Amino acid sequence: MKILILGHRGMLGSDLMLRLGASHEVTGKDVDEIDIASEDDCRRLIAQCSPEVVINAAAYTDVDGCERDRERCMAVNALGVKNIALASRERALMVVHFSTDYVFDGRKGAPYVETDQPAPLNVYGDSKLEGERFLQAFAEKHLLIRTAWLYGPQGKNFVKAILEKTSVLDTLDVVDDQIGSPTYSWDLAAAVQLLIEGGHAGVFHVTNRGRCSWYEFAVRILQYAGKGEVTVRPIRSDALSRPAVRPAWSVLSCRKFAEATGRSMKFWHIALRDYLERMGQLK
Ligand SMILES: NC(=O)c1ccc[n+]([C@@H]2O[C@H](COP(=O)([O-])OP(=O)(O)OC[C@H]3O[C@@H](n4cnc5c(N)ncnc54)[C@H](OP(=O)(O)O)[C@@H]3O)[C@@H](O)[C@H]2O)c1
Repeated sequence: MKILILGHRGMLGSDLMLRLGASHEVTGKDVDEIDIASEDDCRRLIAQCSPEVVINAAAYTDVDGCERDRERCMAVNALGVKNIALASRERALMVVHFSTDYVFDGRKGAPYVETDQPAPLNVYGDSKLEGERFLQAFAEKHLLIRTAWLYGPQGKNFVKAILEKTSVLDTLDVVDDQIGSPTYSWDLAAAVQLLIEGGHAGVFHVTNRGRCSWYEFAVRILQYAGKGEVTVRPIRSDALSRPAVRPAWSVLSCRKFAEATGRSMKFWHIALRDYLERMGQLK
């Protein structure tokens, strides 16, 4: 397949390039060549690359930054998706796009399924939900993949932040009242490949298996990286006074993905070991 990946230098985009590049004709573009908030850019680039599948891994992902710059956040995460969907519809292309557990309010108390009603708590979640609606309204063929708590070799992420902090601190305070499913970009990229190659369409939840709090995630990172001497203290989210409110319990059910592909995602702690090994940080 001829595949165009937008945001190919980002965390997920770079692993999609590696995974899909091994068996497909893949072109990657990022913000220096396309601003997805520009309708003209999207039309021109999609016409120029003439792909069969457009994967949009480009987004404004700074959750607290979105509270400060709602306009930019909406332009990229909502209008950007509309621009890609419209440019792709003219050519009847498949559009693959990513959304987030942050479209939910975290009050369900059980894993969210694809048909659950979204109710975002923050601007980032609002913008991603608007993007979902544009995709569903304007893309003739689409795959909408909601994921969560991503980490990977490219860019900033929680695993890197925790390990970097241990070079200057011997005690870390980490929130213990948000529960979710950490997801390795490499595993998500493999799941995306399965869905595309299987000809699937519609909404899918895809995360690594199991759940934990950020505190439990931090403890496991330090344990696997051989930094057990660092003390981690559980704290409540309100102690951080961050601009964006996060859902307290945003676990996604991946049952639909498993039934469609016949494959289950790896447990999050096994995926974490794989990542640390790839980064040369597993002890
Ligand atoms: N990260 C998470 O924890 C998480 C969780 C759930 C869902 N998701 C979703 O998963 C997808 C991939 O996320 P990610 O973490 O891999 O993102 P990322 O690392 O922030 O990468 C996004 C890429 O898009 C580029 N970009 C930003 N604005 C753009 C624009 N206007 N036009 C073109 N490119 C632009 C970025 O460039 P710059 O770096 O120069 O801005 C970056 O290269 C996103 O849809 C995100 O919402 C992420």
